[in-house]
Amino acid sequence: MSNAVLPPHPSISTHIPLGDAVRARPQHRAQIIAVTSGKGGVGKTFVSANLAAALTRHGLKVLVLDADLGLANLDVVLNLFPKITLHDVFTGKASLEDAVLPAPGGFSVILAGSGMIEYSHLTPEVRSKFLEVVETMAPRFDVVLLDTGAGISDVVLFSVSMANEVMIVATPEPTSLTDAYAAIKVLTTQQKRQHMRLVINQAVRPGDGRAITGQLQQVLNRFVTTESGQPMRLIHMGDIPADPAVRESVMRRQLLLQSTPGCAAALAVAQLANKIKAMLVA
Ligand SMILES: Nc1ncnc2c1ncn2[C@@H]1O[C@H](COP(=O)(O)OP(=O)(O)O)[C@@H](O)[C@H]1O
Ligand SMILES: [Mg+2]
Repeated sequence: MSNAVLPPHPSISTHIPLGDAVRARPQHRAQIIAVTSGKGGVGKTFVSANLAAALTRHGLKVLVLDADLGLANLDVVLNLFPKITLHDVFTGKASLEDAVLPAPGGFSVILAGSGMIEYSHLTPEVRSKFLEVVETMAPRFDVVLLDTGAGISDVVLFSVSMANEVMIVATPEPTSLTDAYAAIKVLTTQQKRQHMRLVINQAVRPGDGRAITGQLQQVLNRFVTTESGQPMRLIHMGDIPADPAVRESVMRRQLLLQSTPGCAAALAVAQLANKIKAMLVA
């Protein structure tokens, strides 16, 4: 693959109004990691759920929050039928405590459920409620994973702004990479970040991710500068291979780490968890 598939997206405006989102970072104990992407369907929810299970096995207390308010489907992947969702918390119909549910992998989840399409544009009231949810939960966990939507919509940018680490999921497809680049560019400017983490999912060949990270980094070196004047730094967190067992586990609505723990993708997720554990210690 050449750099030609990674045009610098000169047309992308980085001046998207974010309101107070730039500073929406809670004070917390937990490491809050936003799992996000430029393009949809790249595996954010799969990674979030299985990474949570893998981190739980390390003895960490993990919460996954379904922050993909418009197209939430963490409940589907985990085979949960929530009676109480984030929507009920936002509208005051239920307490936040009641919205925290146990998930099959031993971690906790807060689900968005369907019918949250009305949040595709966030009002200041919803922003502050959303932030309050994350602020209240953060001290109770070691890791909070925000399973966000794709792209650079208002709700995605806001949920990512609450995280102290951003993990971009991309596949090796040029469309996914150009969209990842676009998201990185916007997040760099809007949220004054110095680095972001990258996971290449559905990798085809060993070494895919390292090569892709290098290529993306070259483009960032030329076109995307952080507030400090340095180029945005990408940290390659690992590759997860394309593996038919992933689709099968989703079809069965089971965690891959439970249904096929020895398959290539499950082992790769476990390795990613090791890296994140090391990051927490550091
Ligand atoms: N490593 C993988 N190998 C094979 N298929 C995968 C892999 N990761 C994801 N998929 C497929 O992609 C689909 C979409 O993944 P999902 O996590 O829902 O994406 P997102 O949350 O980014 O929209 C999954 O249901 C699964 O079928
Ligand atoms: Mg998803």
